[in-house]
Amino acid sequence: MSLTFLELKDIAEREIELVNPTSPEKLLALGSYAGIAPGKTLIDFGCGYAEPLVLWAERFGISGVGIEVRAKAVERSRVKIALHGLSDRLQIVQGRGAEYAFEPGSFDFAACIGASFVWKNLPQALAALKKAIHPAGKILLGEPYWLKDAVPPDLAQAQAEIHSEIGLLDAFRQAGLEVEIILHSSVDEWDRYETANWHGLVKWMVENPGHPDLPDVRAHLHESQDEYMRYGREYFGWALYLLSQTL
Ligand SMILES: C[S@@+](CC[C@H](N)C(=O)[O-])C[C@H]1O[C@@H](n2cnc3c(N)ncnc32)[C@H](O)[C@@H]1O
Repeated sequence: MSLTFLELKDIAEREIELVNPTSPEKLLALGSYAGIAPGKTLIDFGCGYAEPLVLWAERFGISGVGIEVRAKAVERSRVKIALHGLSDRLQIVQGRGAEYAFEPGSFDFAACIGASFVWKNLPQALAALKKAIHPAGKILLGEPYWLKDAVPPDLAQAQAEIHSEIGLLDAFRQAGLEVEIILHSSVDEWDRYETANWHGLVKWMVENPGHPDLPDVRAHLHESQDEYMRYGREYFGWALYLLSQTL
């Protein structure tokens, strides 16, 4: 039986806390610009290992809920939250983000850091995030974008939901949101994130010689390396955006 994409991610990310090409410093800067503060509430869709939630809760004293579909990530998040003594303020719900029922307008902040695919497309993601916050609330979004206008057709087809950055701006405005802050990822942040995945995969392969899943893991490693070398550095950008509603 072959491994699913999320099972391969469990292996690749075993030593990764922040599952995006950005840094704790940039996430904290975004939180500071957003005005995250004690007593405020935040919902984080596709929260991974709860690294953004824990950073924001420790620095800014926020309370929050993270929605995450993957059992291993939920388990790791809950252990991390307990180790940081934040169980009274942070809660993790296992499930599909798009199906999570919440009271509209009940949060001060809605975050989705590299997980807008939780919904069908970016407009639907923005609509859901907007629905979660009250009119003075803010959205903290992490999103990839094309660095170039001309993208190889096979790549554009495989990544049909990625926009140019001007396309992102247009989608934000169409959703009635203004961009306040952008924090672009550096090449170092990309290298660190991409190769941290390879490190996890190779380490697993070294520790599990002859394992029946080894061919799957090796194929995933090579595919991810080929994509990064061939396309990643040239075509993919990534950034954190702070989005606000104006009345
Ligand atoms: C790129 S990671 C980002 C994690 C986290 N936001 C961070 O910055 O570290 C995307 C996460 O979304 C989760 N995910 C995928 N589909 C989902 C869904 N339908 N609902 C909730 N989470 C989902 C994945 O398991 C993964 O942990």
